[in-house]
Amino acid sequence: MSKSAKLELGEVVIELPIIEGTEGERAVDISKLRAETGFITYDNGLGNTGACLSNITFIDGEKGILKHRGYDIEDLCENSSFLEVSYLLYNNRLPSKDELAQLKAQIKEKSTIPDGINSLIKSFPKEAHPMGIVSAAMVALSGHYPHLLDPDLSDEQKSEIFPLMLGHLKSISAAVYRHGKGFDLIQSDSSLDYTSDFLYMMNGEKPNEDVAKSLDVLLILHADHEQNCSASTVRVVGSSKANLFASISSGIDALWGPLHGGANQAVLEMLEAIQSDGGGYEKFISKAKDKEDPFRLMGFGHRVYKNFDPRAKVIKGYCDTILEKLNVQDPMFDIAKGLESTALSDEYFAKRKLFPNVDFYSGIIYKALGIPTNMFTVMFALGRQPGWIAQWKEMIESDGARITRPRQIYQGKTDEKL
Ligand code: CMC
Repeated sequence: MSKSAKLELGEVVIELPIIEGTEGERAVDISKLRAETGFITYDNGLGNTGACLSNITFIDGEKGILKHRGYDIEDLCENSSFLEVSYLLYNNRLPSKDELAQLKAQIKEKSTIPDGINSLIKSFPKEAHPMGIVSAAMVALSGHYPHLLDPDLSDEQKSEIFPLMLGHLKSISAAVYRHGKGFDLIQSDSSLDYTSDFLYMMNGEKPNEDVAKSLDVLLILHADHEQNCSASTVRVVGSSKANLFASISSGIDALWGPLHGGANQAVLEMLEAIQSDGGGYEKFISKAKDKEDPFRLMGFGHRVYKNFDPRAKVIKGYCDTILEKLNVQDPMFDIAKGLESTALSDEYFAKRKLFPNVDFYSGIIYKALGIPTNMFTVMFALGRQPGWIAQWKEMIESDGARITRPRQIYQGKTDEKL
């Protein structure tokens, strides 16, 4: 028997269906609430709203659990590659050996970006932020693939567009980095795997195995995170039947903000500010606690995780390993660890359940790998792209897909006259 909830709104009593998720999450389906009672719901920041039904990613923020298609993130980091996780997100299962080889071959074929995209990248000032250029290049791809603009893609188009997006974003990201340095694009080396090829296209040198493996794990850790700001943006834009290039470009823009993916750049800048201020944490902790001061401890806190962020745990472990393997001594890592332990023992952070998130330590690894600070959020986008595409595909294919169009509670003037 299906469950329901009774809601009493003054005189009106309504029975609302309860939906249960496979991991035990429960929701009250309010989709008929307004039609039957005249009420709408109000949920600032949508923190209590299930905006879709999804089979892709599960998070238990209280227990610190993250799973993609049922697989624990730790297991995926340990035993799979970024491309396998990408395939898993898009196809709802891990690839066979042959399917993985086929995906790799398709991506290699799609690693050369159209000349027009390279010219567009070159038209930006060298100092321009890479995220703006990557977003522009992404939406500009729509002009080069007119046969892929209708979101009701055939099966053949679905298997064309996924490797195309992965191959092109890899090359666009590397080209944007090189443009900032004043260098020309390097063509992909088809003998290399995805992550090594990206590093090769950035630096012109084949990366060592530890470097490539660390970046691959970082990409896995960023691959999807259910209905976060950028994935929701991709879904919202896609819900109007805008094409995938436009939807992903919008996701890149949403990710850029410092409260979302841009936090990884902001963390390193904060650590540098602490260092140049003499290395004391107290001043920055006090600023973060001061409600009159807009400053926040970057890389701390999360809408969903009220315990540790499992991604941050994996990354912190990798920081130790990679810095040791590359023989890098980075004072930023010590500052980050000191800041973390000071914050965690402070009542303000404990009471609000604020823990380090994925962005807190990732920049230390990017830096050790030689990736400049203004490229950190591009790394996040490169990792998150398969998740965005999977979310978009799920939305497009879902039964009864509708344009996203929330309501509001108008609080402005009434009855003004000229
Ligand atoms: N420093 C200081 N105080 C904080 C912080 C922080 N980093 N994060 C939250 N708070 C406080 C906030 O002021 C509020 O206090 P009070 O209850 O007294 O008003 C309380 O904690 C709850 O915060 P909130 O803003 O209501 O929480 P939210 O769920 O709306 O925001 C967040 C989540 C991630 C935007 C926020 O924690 C934040 O701004 N963190 C810093 C930026 C950051 O690291 N972002 C990366 C997020 S993880 C990766 C990703 O999504 O890209």
